Amino acid sequence: MRLHVADHPLISHKLSVLRDKDTPQATFRELVDELVTLLAYEATRDVRTEPREVITPVAATIGTHMADPKPIVVPVLRAGLGMLGGMMKLLPTAEVGFLGLKRDEETLQAITYANRLPDDLSGRQCFVLDPMLATGGTLAATIDYLFERGAHDVTCICLIAAPEGIELVEKHVGDRADVTVVVAAVDERLNEKAYIVPGLGDAGDRLYGLT
Ligand code: URA
Repeated sequence: MRLHVADHPLISHKLSVLRDKDTPQATFRELVDELVTLLAYEATRDVRTEPREVITPVAATIGTHMADPKPIVVPVLRAGLGMLGGMMKLLPTAEVGFLGLKRDEETLQAITYANRLPDDLSGRQCFVLDPMLATGGTLAATIDYLFERGAHDVTCICLIAAPEGIELVEKHVGDRADVTVVVAAVDERLNEKAYIVPGLGDAGDRLYGLT
């Protein structure tokens, strides 16, 4: 597994405002959108392309186009949905599949409660959106889900990761396939309720208000 921490002053600034408990919900959503677009720029560095002729007003030349099959973006419900707009700004032709995973608050294990994804993902580049890489259980389950459908190229975009979550996903994935995790920051640790410290609280609640 490759870990890429997107180290950029604008990302750090936006993330700091996002962390602030007094940041209003509307601002929070806007900032998530902006941050994801910045992270998506890093995360799509290896998106597959092919050469294709383009005729400019002056001459014919060989341009670059995204290759088929187009990538698939997979927001993990519910909080990952708040990242979709920012991602689609950069990948407007990608397909979108949905995966609903939630954490059992007692066992802290991930449970699948919804999915809308193609059965066959072989040859597809998958971009998973999940803002908080906490215990790593949800991301590990998501990666398994995609691998089981034939995916071999998975990039996960998260806002904040805990070292514990990174370690779990790293061990879980091993050398099975091409997995990259792109994050804006790696925080200190998890607390006893498996929240990231200092983190930003519950990303879903801060995006949508409902618990
Ligand atoms: N999920 C969140 O929304 N926040 C955390 O800190 C951990 C998991």
